[in-house]
Amino acid sequence: MHPNPTTKLLLLLLVLTTWCQPHRQERDALLAFKRGVRDLLGRLTSWRRGDDCCRWRGVRCSNRTGHVLGLRLGVGSEWYDDPFEATLSGQISLSLFSLEHLEHLDLGWNSGLHFPRGGHSPKLLSSLKNLRYLNLSGIRFERTLHPQLGNLSKLQYLDLSDTYSEKPRDLSWLTRLPLLCHLNMNGENLSKVHDWPHTVNMIPSLEVLSLSYCSLQNTSQQLPHLNLTKLEKLDLSGNDFHHLSESCWFWNLTSLKHLYLGYNNLYGQFPNTLGRMKSLQVFDFSYNNQMAIMTPNLLRNLCNLEVLNLRYSLSYGNMTELYESLRHSSKLRELDLRGNNIIGTIPAGIGQLTSLVTLDLSGNHLIGHVPSEISMLSSLTSLYLGDNNLTGVITEEHFSGLTSLKYMDIL
Ligand SMILES: *[C@@H]1O[C@H](CO)[C@@H](O)[C@H](O)[C@H]1NC(C)=O
Ligand SMILES: *[C@@H]1O[C@H](CO)[C@@H](O)[C@H](O)[C@H]1NC(C)=O
Ligand SMILES: *[C@@H]1O[C@H](CO)[C@@H](O)[C@H](O)[C@H]1NC(C)=O
Ligand SMILES: *[C@@H]1O[C@H](CO)[C@@H](O)[C@H](O)[C@H]1NC(C)=O
Ligand SMILES: *[C@@H]1O[C@H](CO)[C@@H](O)[C@H](O)[C@H]1NC(C)=O
Ligand SMILES: *[C@@H]1O[C@H](CO)[C@@H](O)[C@H](O)[C@H]1NC(C)=O
Ligand SMILES: *[C@@H]1O[C@H](CO)[C@@H](O)[C@H](O)[C@H]1NC(C)=O
Ligand SMILES: *[C@@H]1O[C@H](CO)[C@@H](O)[C@H](O)[C@H]1NC(C)=O
Ligand SMILES: *[C@@H]1O[C@H](CO)[C@@H](O)[C@H](O)[C@H]1NC(C)=O
Repeated sequence: MHPNPTTKLLLLLLVLTTWCQPHRQERDALLAFKRGVRDLLGRLTSWRRGDDCCRWRGVRCSNRTGHVLGLRLGVGSEWYDDPFEATLSGQISLSLFSLEHLEHLDLGWNSGLHFPRGGHSPKLLSSLKNLRYLNLSGIRFERTLHPQLGNLSKLQYLDLSDTYSEKPRDLSWLTRLPLLCHLNMNGENLSKVHDWPHTVNMIPSLEVLSLSYCSLQNTSQQLPHLNLTKLEKLDLSGNDFHHLSESCWFWNLTSLKHLYLGYNNLYGQFPNTLGRMKSLQVFDFSYNNQMAIMTPNLLRNLCNLEVLNLRYSLSYGNMTELYESLRHSSKLRELDLRGNNIIGTIPAGIGQLTSLVTLDLSGNHLIGHVPSEISMLSSLTSLYLGDNNLTGVITEEHFSGLTSLKYMDIL
């Protein structure tokens, strides 16, 4: 006997409700989370009892099992106009920790959210064993939750920036995360963690490591062997390294594409190994107190360089030599050499660096005239040459080719 259409429909409903049954608990957990928070912009208005929670905004489920796999509730770029209004605030419901299938949890920048008081949250967080992505950026913790996070052995992305937790003494729990590729702890006070280079060196899967403004004191530790062969981005800006830049442990990481070392107190000669970092695209060494020394031709082989920021970093410079060092960097978009006691004249060859978008040579001791070849820089939007001793006349010829120019200061 063939079932009639009504029976078919009933069967279908039966199948659907049984399939949905185990997920009711997950839906209720989400509703409990919603009840606990204040949501000024109504970001959670689609979260309504009875509806299929997999269609709610920010919720992602498995197509196969229907379990909730992802919660994307970060105050991301779509809210940048209104980040404070967009913030969810209040206490995170304990029920959230029952979503054991969760792989992606993004609460980033909801600075008004807090975990239940009483110190259980770290333990509860570590029950979300399937997490691959965890973003708690900007959420405050009353104590450190770190060691427990070492239980989340599937983690690949971990963002704990600006959580202002109790000062951690130890980061060794990180070495229990064998898949970790992206770690951001910007703004955490790591002044008590002295062996951090050794610790991160034991996570060979790392591709991105951001430890800016962490009150780190020293980056001159000796490492017998570097395991971080996949590292592409290292951000150590805004710490307080008061030592020779030569002695930093990371110069041999030739896979690096982005290296940020601004706002430290590093000084002295750059090591020759910098010249071997051929993958380097961004090198930011700005605001290192004009105490660094660049040997001639050091950057000659860095053909992939797109951004070079040495603002207020060199104790002196010679414009001709700096240009010679960079003349093969045809991808250079941004060159900032402001405030480096650079002497000499602006070479005509500067017109060959046709990718330049920003050129800042201001605040040096440059003399002579501005070469008319500068007119070849048709992508240039910002040109700063002021506060030098340049002479001569600026003519129409200088500007005829500068078709993108928006900002200029040449006095
Ligand atoms: C579920 O299906 C949709 C549409 O078919 C697809 O875009 C999405 O990637 C799938 N999600 C998963 C987790 O497989
Ligand atoms: C974490 O969330 C913040 C805010 O949405 C975002 O800016 C940041 O890129 C996220 N971190 C990661 C690792 O995706
Ligand atoms: C989680 O990590 C803590 C601290 O390292 C440890 O004491 C605890 O046994 C771990 N818990 C589980 C369930 O693995
Ligand atoms: C970090 O902690 C150390 C030691 O407690 C303290 O001296 C330092 O001022 C702190 N750094 C910041 C940025 O608060
Ligand atoms: C990384 O290198 C150190 C030596 O600096 C070594 O002792 C350690 O076993 C290596 N760790 C991994 C995970 O490769
Ligand atoms: C930095 O670390 C090195 C190696 O561990 C040590 O020899 C040196 O004294 C430290 N410097 C400072 C300023 O702490
Ligand atoms: C860095 O490379 C140089 C030259 O290849 C080598 O002499 C030195 O031992 C290396 N240092 C580290 C820490 O790997
Ligand atoms: C800059 O360096 C070049 C090449 O080393 C040298 O010929 C020139 O005299 C130097 N310029 C000044 C102003 O010292
Ligand atoms: C410009 O030249 C004058 C006279 O030689 C000198 O006094 C002044 O310090 C120079 N200014 C700069 C910014 O180099």
